[in-house]
Amino acid sequence: MKRIFSGIQPSGNLHLGNYLGAIRNWISLQHEYESFFCIVDLHAITVPQEPEILAKKIRDLARLYVAIGIDPKVSTIFVQSDVAAHTELAWILNCITRMSELERMTQYKDKAKKQRENVGVGLFDYPALMAADILLYQTDLVPVGHDQKQHLELTRDLAIRFNRDYGEIFRVPEPFIPKLGARIMSLQDPLKKMSKSDEEASGSINLFDSPEDISKKFRRAVTDSGTEIRFDDARPAITNLLMIYQLLTDKQTEEIEEHFIGKGYAHLKSELAEVTIEFLKPIQDRLRAIGDDELDRILTDGCTRAESIAAGTLSSVRERMGLKGVRRARH
Ligand code: TYM
Repeated sequence: MKRIFSGIQPSGNLHLGNYLGAIRNWISLQHEYESFFCIVDLHAITVPQEPEILAKKIRDLARLYVAIGIDPKVSTIFVQSDVAAHTELAWILNCITRMSELERMTQYKDKAKKQRENVGVGLFDYPALMAADILLYQTDLVPVGHDQKQHLELTRDLAIRFNRDYGEIFRVPEPFIPKLGARIMSLQDPLKKMSKSDEEASGSINLFDSPEDISKKFRRAVTDSGTEIRFDDARPAITNLLMIYQLLTDKQTEEIEEHFIGKGYAHLKSELAEVTIEFLKPIQDRLRAIGDDELDRILTDGCTRAESIAAGTLSSVRERMGLKGVRRARH
């Protein structure tokens, strides 16, 4: 069975973009692939985090994975820092990664610009850790949103380079970036992606938002000039709202455009709020029903399964590179 691996940082608030660009596809792919879904807490600490809040967010995100439809019976759900192999392989990959490759990463450049001072080495090196996450599991497919495309290309380059220098070890993964939903935009600025760290809170619909907040945010969403409601690249605000509507209702483009003929923007916004509230309500209810013991069991099982595969890959890597201390030298 082929494998998928993907992850989300337990930082900020999970939003509709994270669901529509990534998790939605994890749910549908998990039955066709052996799946690993990680809570990437070591990536989250590349920018300052409050320890107590981070600890809570890690568990909240794991709960969300389950509540939203990742089935722990078929998929492996685990916390990145529980499996030490991720940091070890990241170090090894560091040694074959070029500074110039990391300097080109647009996500790093954006984040570094925001932080200005105190840009940590971890933030710079973030893509090497991401490559380690993926390569440890001999991943075939990585379902992510569009903003991770460049990191995936680097992961592929590192796998190919390592295989060339030390012999075939890593499977070279393919990105899975959906045609629809890979770039959900901010409700306040349709030229900026919806983002966890958005200063403008009403730009993103969070998966934990109340019905009142959801309605308010859609009501305040910016629109384009004109009145027609149809998909049109030249009108990015309305197209973004329609895209969200389409992905949540699974309706065809023509059907949606026909449905909204003669109706105004206010109507679209209120229907969109309704559809979103209806979608999130059962997820939020399930979230509350997942107890701490159940969550501990899921994460412990996940960590055990992940660790056994990661250890196998890492041991081959060490072997090939000649990293043989007393524990391995005589074998
Ligand atoms: P993160 O936590 O920023 O985002 C999680 C996932 O959500 C997608 N996404 C979006 N999709 C559509 N529209 C948006 N506005 C939007 N915003 C975010 C992201 O593309 C991502 O798929 N580096 C990764 C986490 C990571 C990872 C990995 C992913 C670490 N190791 C290994 C895959 C494989 C990140 O920061 O995602």
